[in-house]
Amino acid sequence: MYASISENIKILVIGDVLGKAGRRAIKDHLPDLMDLHQVDFVVANGENLAHGFGTTEAVANELFDVGVDVLTNGNHCWDQRSFLEHIDEDDRYVRPMNFTPFAPGRGWTVQVTPAGYKVAVINVIGQVFMGSWDCPFAAVDQAMAEIPDDVHAVLVDMHAEATSEKMGMGWYMDGRASFVYGTHTHVPTCDEIIHASGTAYQSDVGMTGSYQSIIGMKVEGALKRMVERLPQRFEAVERGASIFATLVTIDPSTRMAEKIERIYVPPT
Ligand SMILES: [Fe+2]
Ligand SMILES: [Fe+2]
Repeated sequence: MYASISENIKILVIGDVLGKAGRRAIKDHLPDLMDLHQVDFVVANGENLAHGFGTTEAVANELFDVGVDVLTNGNHCWDQRSFLEHIDEDDRYVRPMNFTPFAPGRGWTVQVTPAGYKVAVINVIGQVFMGSWDCPFAAVDQAMAEIPDDVHAVLVDMHAEATSEKMGMGWYMDGRASFVYGTHTHVPTCDEIIHASGTAYQSDVGMTGSYQSIIGMKVEGALKRMVERLPQRFEAVERGASIFATLVTIDPSTRMAEKIERIYVPPT
């Protein structure tokens, strides 16, 4: 079922990349991070790439050009309407598997590393405080049934608000996925662990964007909206981004994780 290759696969997972500040941080630092840690494969969440709201071909290419292999998504997936057309043109994009059957795009993809390892990336969205989506647990089962048996690693981006629901997914996939991780809250958690049957888990990888903000947005407008309960424009903070990411080392013969390590690059 699995290829008999003895070396490891090192995968860098980046959470929600927010706007110009987040994109700039990735462009400035990702090539060096990849060299330093001998990274084979990079996944990032792209739901906030375009000034905080969705993805366009142009902003996605900024990340693909510097080493990102796959962009996952989330509740902001269709904020840029052009992405409804564009997503089907490139299989490096995934969107939540448990969107409705009418959604364009795909819920999982398999891409190949330079060394020839096949990496599957699945994206699901939670149900708690996220809207009425289909069951993410049934969706990952469906994805696993569809994904070819010869992949060397399986990543699950669980885009969700509730930590408990994300933890549930981590245990649900233990022994089946290489790494189950949360995105969406824009705050990194320090609960990285390798579960009993070998699946790495972290509740949220965290935002790559400015933390002098409210989840990446300028404080003034976001705070005014909370206090006054009147409409306000949300604007992304455009400079001073930190990178939060997580590096997972995977044994391709078992697909299971050997090591999980958080990476932090402070704002420059
Ligand atoms: Fe986000
Ligand atoms: Fe989100």
